[in-house]
Amino acid sequence: VQRSLVLVKPDGVRRGLSGEILRRIEAKGYTLVAVELRDATPEILAAHYAEHEGKPFYAPLVEFMLSGPVLAVVVEGHRCIEGFRSLAGATDPTVAAPGTIRGDLGRDWGLAVQQNLVHGSDSPESAEREIGIWFADLGA
Ligand code: GTP
Ligand code: MG
Repeated sequence: VQRSLVLVKPDGVRRGLSGEILRRIEAKGYTLVAVELRDATPEILAAHYAEHEGKPFYAPLVEFMLSGPVLAVVVEGHRCIEGFRSLAGATDPTVAAPGTIRGDLGRDWGLAVQQNLVHGSDSPESAEREIGIWFADLGA
């Protein structure tokens, strides 16, 4: 059975949307295998966002992810990687489709697409890697 690493980013936690986001994941039918509120670290984020290192938005993205606690979640279910990204909606919350997490709950607060409430793994390889980063004890 597939697993995905989902994060409620600091904007989502700060706005009190953790419960609503978990509700949507459970309502879709996926299982919550692990849920933990934690402070990211520069080391965790360097590993998590390695693919974006060197891009212009990398430093502000890391700073944003350190601005408050993150809810780290391991989601389980057949095709949950694809399924959660469908629930999350497009990266840019301004134009993410209504009905999605980003489309219903997100908007541009002046930082383009940076504050978009959630992260979801984009492939089985990413999910395994990211679960190892955020939940060293779980593996994938
Ligand atoms: P994640 O599920 O968070 O990985 O989102 P994604 O896969 O839709 O986006 P991507 O992996 O391309 O980018 C990771 C994150 O970096 C995004 O979710 C945004 O928070 C941020 N980001 C991406 N592109 C930009 C950009 O052009 N400007 C800014 N400020 N942030 C960006
Ligand atoms: Mg991504």
